[in-house]
Amino acid sequence: MPKPERHVFVCLQNRPEGHPRPACGQKNCTAVAEEFFFNLQQSQLFDKVQVTTTGCLGPCSEGPSVLVYPEGVMYGRVRKEDVATIFEEHLVNGKPVERLLMSREFWD
Ligand code: FES
Repeated sequence: MPKPERHVFVCLQNRPEGHPRPACGQKNCTAVAEEFFFNLQQSQLFDKVQVTTTGCLGPCSEGPSVLVYPEGVMYGRVRKEDVATIFEEHLVNGKPVERLLMSREFWD
């Protein structure tokens, strides 16, 4: 398997009802992950991009959280509608999407 140029981690963490900490699982993160997989399938860039679902990435109140390596760029409050932009501008063209970056208060 070729080493991907960029690896995307999409938080799918859930927490039980009443848990004091919010979770991306309460904010439609599954649709975000599915949209990344759809974009990957459409683009066929399997040798350049890898998408992995994961547990908590840390800034739960700002989710759905999406982390991209090797840059260590974190996106927050990602909506399904944002995924195509992240895919095209960042994962394919290498330019992080400024308007979707996680606040530095949570990821610095
Ligand atoms: S639950 Fe997604 S970042 Fe913590």
